[in-house]
Amino acid sequence: MYNERMKLTIEEREEIASYLERYLEHPEVRKMAAFVAHGNKSVLRHCYDVALMAYAINKKFNLKADLRTLLVGSFLHDFYLYDWHGHPLNLNVFKMHGFTHPKQARDNAVKYFSINKDIQKVIESHMWPLTLRSFPSSKEAMIVCMADKYCALKETFNR
Ligand SMILES: [Fe+2]
Ligand SMILES: [Fe+2]
Repeated sequence: MYNERMKLTIEEREEIASYLERYLEHPEVRKMAAFVAHGNKSVLRHCYDVALMAYAINKKFNLKADLRTLLVGSFLHDFYLYDWHGHPLNLNVFKMHGFTHPKQARDNAVKYFSINKDIQKVIESHMWPLTLRSFPSSKEAMIVCMADKYCALKETFNR
């Protein structure tokens, strides 16, 4: 588990949970538990781990990110709500899951939680540089972009 490796204290984990509580309990968010992200990890677990990792990076390097933007953005970054493994192969590369899911996740987050522009930016740009034009132009977006790649690599190769 990343929790142990990230060495977050109980207080730090409680602080993270305090920002994410209302999202964790939402039935649409719970649906992410049914979809696999990478390896055998659910999208819900992946999103929570990316939030923990983003928090840990911010703390370790003393980046002074806005915690609400960082945590809500990281937790909802893959809120696209479908099974991408079962997604039909699209020959137009720009319509493939990797390119399209950040916008889908952003649209769902706006629809269910009316998230603000700063959080939208975090979600939209998390796949950069794949999505070349969606550059992570804030500190929070850059941290989440890196935390997601780190977690995705771990999940894919550490089964
Ligand atoms: Fe993603
Ligand atoms: Fe992700």
